[in-house]
Amino acid sequence: MASQPLTFLFLLLLTASVLESSTSFEPNIRLPTTATIVPRSDIDDDLYCASWQLAVETNNAGSWAAIPSRCVPFVRDYMTGQRYASDCEVVANYSLAYASTVKIASDGKDAWVFDVDETLLTNLPYYRDHGFGSEIFNESCWDEWVAEAKAPAIPSSLKLYNGLKQMRFKIFVLTGRSEHQRNDTRKNLELAGYTGWEGLILRGASDGGTPATIFKSERRSVLVNEGYRIHGNSGDQWSDLLGFAVAKRSFKLPNPMYYIA
Ligand SMILES: *[C@@H]1O[C@H](CO)[C@@H](O)[C@H](O)[C@H]1NC(C)=O
Ligand SMILES: *[C@@H]1O[C@H](CO)[C@@H](O)[C@H](O)[C@H]1NC(C)=O
Ligand SMILES: *[C@@H]1O[C@H](CO)[C@@H](O)[C@H](O)[C@H]1NC(C)=O
Repeated sequence: MASQPLTFLFLLLLTASVLESSTSFEPNIRLPTTATIVPRSDIDDDLYCASWQLAVETNNAGSWAAIPSRCVPFVRDYMTGQRYASDCEVVANYSLAYASTVKIASDGKDAWVFDVDETLLTNLPYYRDHGFGSEIFNESCWDEWVAEAKAPAIPSSLKLYNGLKQMRFKIFVLTGRSEHQRNDTRKNLELAGYTGWEGLILRGASDGGTPATIFKSERRSVLVNEGYRIHGNSGDQWSDLLGFAVAKRSFKLPNPMYYIA
């Protein structure tokens, strides 16, 4: 804990040096991309799964492919009960409080970046049918769900989004969804109540194998080079928030169902 301010200072310095050498597209933080195996805990499931959830949210667990089967009831209760909504609302409230301290210039370059899945939209109806993250990701199943365009808004995110719009932030939606899902994604966002964004940025064909951290950092760099000041970035994955061209403030929404490196 005591070393955290130092760590952040270090990362800030690294960010500054990366920004200076703008030709460099190396991320300043490397996310773990392989699973970390730990011995099975002998504490009871509820206590273990609460600690596991904290390890996941803080990124101590690193990359993982599926939630532990013993934690399915825990994650189900968390996601479908009041706690998930409340946790998201607290994040939105901190985000709005920060946003209201930003002085908006008249040049229209004050920006906020949002991720889509589990940030603006919740895919809980999909994950309810797929073991709350205990099943290995099935892309064709997922694509069918995306094409339905019926993921609901996370209510507190919609409130935040509209609040930022009112404050005259320029909103960029930056998602790991593919370019071929643009129409479905636009339709879903609009049905859920999101309108008036400045840009909707998806993964193009050439971004195929690029890790999310790098893909998103590259796209934020483009915005910065266009003169945008990225004040805030909201995402449920660390890969939405870390890397380079990071926002002045990043806001991490909870997601105990899946991990994207
Ligand atoms: C978030 O802020 C609203 C006021 O805008 C307040 O009514 C609500 O209780 C807050 N939520 C939480 C979880 O703190
Ligand atoms: C993925 O889901 C599709 C149905 O959407 C199914 O046909 C296929 O067998 C699944 N693949 C795996 C590896 O489970
Ligand atoms: C998206 O919709 C536009 C019309 O609004 C159409 O021209 C385009 O082909 C569609 N793209 C895809 C990938 O379906």
